[in-house]
Amino acid sequence: MALEKIRSIKIGFKSKKTENNLDVPQSTDNLDINASPKKKQKKEKKGHRSLTKIDILSKLGLSRTGELIGVDIGTSSIKIGTVKKTKEGYQLTHIAKKTYAENLLTEGHIVDQDFVAHEIREIVTKNNIKSTIAASALSSYGAIIKKIRLPLSEDMDIEKIMKNPSILEETGLIITEIENSIPFQLKEVYYSYHVLGLDPEDENFINVLFVVSKKEIVDGFIDTFRMAGLKLVLLDLDLISLINIVEQIYGLHGSPVMIVDLGATVMNMAIVKGPYIDLTREVMLGGTYLTEQIQKALKAGYLEAEEKKIKADPEITYLFEDFIFNISSEINKTINFYLSTKPNESISKIFITGGGSLLEGIIDKIYNDTNINIEIIDPFLIVGGEAAVKQNVYKEYREFIPVALHLSTRIDDIVR
Ligand SMILES: Nc1ncnc2c1ncn2[C@@H]1O[C@H](COP(=O)(O)OP(=O)(O)OP(=O)(O)O)[C@@H](O)[C@H]1O
Ligand SMILES: [Mg+2]
Repeated sequence: MALEKIRSIKIGFKSKKTENNLDVPQSTDNLDINASPKKKQKKEKKGHRSLTKIDILSKLGLSRTGELIGVDIGTSSIKIGTVKKTKEGYQLTHIAKKTYAENLLTEGHIVDQDFVAHEIREIVTKNNIKSTIAASALSSYGAIIKKIRLPLSEDMDIEKIMKNPSILEETGLIITEIENSIPFQLKEVYYSYHVLGLDPEDENFINVLFVVSKKEIVDGFIDTFRMAGLKLVLLDLDLISLINIVEQIYGLHGSPVMIVDLGATVMNMAIVKGPYIDLTREVMLGGTYLTEQIQKALKAGYLEAEEKKIKADPEITYLFEDFIFNISSEINKTINFYLSTKPNESISKIFITGGGSLLEGIIDKIYNDTNINIEIIDPFLIVGGEAAVKQNVYKEYREFIPVALHLSTRIDDIVR
């Protein structure tokens, strides 16, 4: 049975709903974001484009347009960023985030599409964002990412495949691999794949990365954006976006690096070597779990517990220890597993992001346990670095905005 790729966006307009606004601190108004006087922007990296980019929604015949709105829908927040391309590189044009007490996602699904659509619309309007095209990312939790090795038959050579990857589908190998890797029926999913190249360990094989997501999750995103008055033109995976932004900013690494996103409900990890994603792992543990522990200990509501956590109130910091221990040991487990399969490798750096990475003591603990240098991903390096944006914007967004900003830079992938 043939799998379905998304070729067009379907129409599914539903009425908007405006209730249950669950605001925690937010800054969705039109911000003065760029520092002045303007510093020279970092030159955009030319040349190598990532090999790992996966679009579940492929290019959709767009006319030339100025900005692509990057929208990262996390479990606890919506983050929006837009960049504009100038001669000196990208310039930040809009940035916004809004946080919610109730989960926006569950197992990758948008829980309440009407609500999320309304919220996106409101953020876009408040920020005076004029563009109507958007790029978003599925939570890796709602998708299956897998690297597979396929035998290279005699009549196929790698150049031919790289030029025209769809010939792989004709062999049926890809479809069989996907079918064997998913706990669903084929007709329930959309898929996308990317040929990574020859297997470095055995040139009779090629490595292919594929992503599969349930149709209802993808359709939910498409419908939500439509309801928000936006056209969703590109749908990535949050983890793949992060891998790509690390590459975009810090370049390719000869030795393996780890990327960790500590979110509200999921910690996403990847180990990447050069253009290859060697391993990905999601663990259902995030900042919300700690907030719930604080709620229980104090018999307090969500907002109070969340505030105390963010301020590292001495009354509750004793609760941090176990949580941090668990996060750090999951990172260690991932590293140890990886090294057990690749005993000659070592991880040279851990790139970290996500709101959970702001928790007091967490980075020190990870460093102490792993003895690996840790770098907080600085997404603003895409738009000229810390000096190019206001200090408050830099502080408030650094850990939250990488995916949204990266998505916005993907305008290059959709403008023809
Ligand atoms: N200063 C801080 N100290 C500790 N935790 C923080 C801080 N600021 C935010 N957080 C926590 O970060 C989490 C939100 O991070 P983020 O926005 O990266 O998650 P998300 O994208 O909404 O969730 P997910 O990726 O799991 O779907 C929340 O649990 C929040 O409490
Ligand atoms: Mg997230």
